[in-house]
Amino acid sequence: MKEWLEKIDNAQSLEALETLRVETLGKKGVLTLEFAKMKDVPNEEKKAFAQNLNQQKAAVTEAIESKKVTLEALELNRKLEAEKIDVTMFNAEHTCGAVHPVMDTMDRIINYFQNLNFSVEEGPLVEDDFHNFEALNLPKYHPARDMQDTFYNKDFTLLRTHTSPVQIRTMLSQSTPIRMIAPGTVFRRDYDITHTPMFHQIEALVVDDADKISFANLKHVLVEFLHHMFGEVDVRFRPSFFPFTEPSAEVDISCVFCGGDGCRVCSHTGWIEILGCGIVDQNVFDAVGYENKSGYAFGLGIERVAMLTHNIGDLRSLFESDLRLLGQFK
Ligand code: DAH
Repeated sequence: MKEWLEKIDNAQSLEALETLRVETLGKKGVLTLEFAKMKDVPNEEKKAFAQNLNQQKAAVTEAIESKKVTLEALELNRKLEAEKIDVTMFNAEHTCGAVHPVMDTMDRIINYFQNLNFSVEEGPLVEDDFHNFEALNLPKYHPARDMQDTFYNKDFTLLRTHTSPVQIRTMLSQSTPIRMIAPGTVFRRDYDITHTPMFHQIEALVVDDADKISFANLKHVLVEFLHHMFGEVDVRFRPSFFPFTEPSAEVDISCVFCGGDGCRVCSHTGWIEILGCGIVDQNVFDAVGYENKSGYAFGLGIERVAMLTHNIGDLRSLFESDLRLLGQFK
């Protein structure tokens, strides 16, 4: 039995130990087979024989049990060593998402005009020359096309440079009265702290019978809207030019940062330009076959509004997907 006890003591793994247990105490184990010999032992020797075997069995059982405890402890240490957990490791916090400031601003504007019964219209991002320019009174080679740095495709389609083509699509597919807004993505070849090649606009168009729509209507709607977005700011209409409106105006609000005193954001003018607008040009109505109609339109950049309402300095930071910035707008 000494050799078995040695083998048990030298076992290197729990599996090896189990094999030794089967070889000694198992159904065909050496000790079990010894016990089977009992029947051939003369009666007077049976007691001593059995005692001896029982002692051996107890010794082997004991040896296996204690070796098992040792091996299990070793095994556990090995696992702990191999599967070490670094409790100092950076733990990415599980945080809740939030609506992006651009989409949040877009939603607020859409909501405002939906409450005034404006429909929400959409158009394709890949446009053709007719809808993006021609029908908007921007004929080929017209110098005003330079205002918009266009991305052209090889097949003469283009990425829409503004949401104004949706005006054309809506007038071509619907009849008056029209009261619509068109929110969406637009593209221009431009990149600096106030321009990104992709940005968002909201277009508005209201059309009804001739003489029903006036500049006064436009002015009222815009002043109310700007007060809703920015609070009690001053609003100023400045004569301007857009090919699709006549007369046209650009609209400024008093600077939301300095209250009109002049600061870096408003280039010390006290005013911030916020949108373009005007009375729909007759040439636009002609292009869509509308007769005896009047209307107004305006368009504004969402990012500009988002930057002013969320106090963001660099337009490009809106598109860098930096969670440290976006996390502030929950
Ligand atoms: N489409 C113009 C732009 O992208 C914005 C604009 C100005 C839209 C005047 C209008 C408008 O509908 O009447 O700069």
